[in-house]
Amino acid sequence: MAKITAGISTSHVPALGAALDQGKTKEGYWAPLFKGYEPSRQWMQENTPDVVILVYNDHASAFSLELVPTFAIGCADRFQIADEGWGPRPVPVVEGHPELAWHIAQSAIEDEFDMTIVNRMPVDHGLTVPLSMMFGQPKSWPCQVIPIAVNVVVYPPPSGRRCYHLGQAIQRAVESFEPNLNVQVWGTGGMSHQLQGSRAGLINQEFDKAFMDDLVANPEVLMQKPHVEYLREAGSEGVELVMWLIMRGALGPQAKELYRFYHVPASNTAVGHMILENA
Ligand code: DHB
Ligand code: FE
Repeated sequence: MAKITAGISTSHVPALGAALDQGKTKEGYWAPLFKGYEPSRQWMQENTPDVVILVYNDHASAFSLELVPTFAIGCADRFQIADEGWGPRPVPVVEGHPELAWHIAQSAIEDEFDMTIVNRMPVDHGLTVPLSMMFGQPKSWPCQVIPIAVNVVVYPPPSGRRCYHLGQAIQRAVESFEPNLNVQVWGTGGMSHQLQGSRAGLINQEFDKAFMDDLVANPEVLMQKPHVEYLREAGSEGVELVMWLIMRGALGPQAKELYRFYHVPASNTAVGHMILENA
């Protein structure tokens, strides 16, 4: 049977992708940040999954205000790299896993999560930056990827509780898929960030660190957190953190923290990253 072996969380700041693509990762501003991901790239080489279920948000690349799905699952066999205004990032095309994706769609929908099924979805920095941070710059990505796009851009986004429960539904789906597959679930976005207005650049390290602690040990506390608390404490884009709860819900209650990294600044944001092993 397929099994979820680990969960990864990471910020997806587009400037990280640009730093990599432009060969700037050893420069002063970026060096400490990329150094913090080195142990993860090492761990990933030794623990490469067959499939990553990559929970991210689309930033008006595949979708627009004309169509805003709350939870969309990519069932295609490949996903092109989106052009976000500077041409597509120079990274490999993303290969999907249609059989597992359709299985998750069916299982989750029967489980009362009304997923939007998507067969064409160019993927933007929300998905490609986490792949780059974990795998570096390979000629092709070393695993297949099932994108799950979550609306955290247009009000109202789904609640943290709903996200956690979706993670649990994903776990049930994966563990009822017969082929033997090593599957990881990644939750991306965050941490504190406020990209516009008078509070632009807001960083709340205390909030971010408590969130990481609770993600491991007390996810039920995070399930209660209302959107307005993310907005107030972590900035308007801080609400991307609900996507980490989908990852956490897909792991067992005793998930073990293998690695944690936290760094300020990266563009306007705090970068947070964790590796959790599914006990
Ligand atoms: C930035 C961060 C994001 O998460 C994003 O989607 C776009 C921009 C930033 O810090 O610049
Ligand atoms: Fe974002």
